[in-house]
Amino acid sequence: MIALNVNGKAYQVDVEPDVPLLWVIREQLKLTGTKFGCGEGLCGACTVHVNGEPARSCITPVGDVAGKKIVTIEGIPAGHAVKKAWLAEEVSQCGYCQPGQVMSAVALLKKHPKPTDGDIDSAMSGNICRCGTYPRIRTAIHRAAG
Ligand code: FES
Repeated sequence: MIALNVNGKAYQVDVEPDVPLLWVIREQLKLTGTKFGCGEGLCGACTVHVNGEPARSCITPVGDVAGKKIVTIEGIPAGHAVKKAWLAEEVSQCGYCQPGQVMSAVALLKKHPKPTDGDIDSAMSGNICRCGTYPRIRTAIHRAAG
């Protein structure tokens, strides 16, 4: 059994420690907001927070995050400035990558409450959007920063 803390809730999961965190989140915990894109740590669709830092859950063995504080897109409240800005700017097109984009944006704003375009581009460069919503992502992050 592996003890996990996800979105403030305690879980015990019966999986091998090398199983990717993404699959535990989606299949055991049924938190399906976190998406599978590439499975190789390259696209950012599976981004969650581990102890406040963005992490690619597809390449994070669940055994490595036992006892750590994991937050998924479901753990970001609907009233959070980033989620509100995403809606106001109508960022999403197909929407598939957007949970990962939001998680990276939330982590960025914790570190840089007033990020420059450069800060945004470097923090968000690991999150790929095939619809090309990058300009709206940037605008929404500035909006969330107030
Ligand atoms: Fe994890 Fe692409 S699915 S980075």
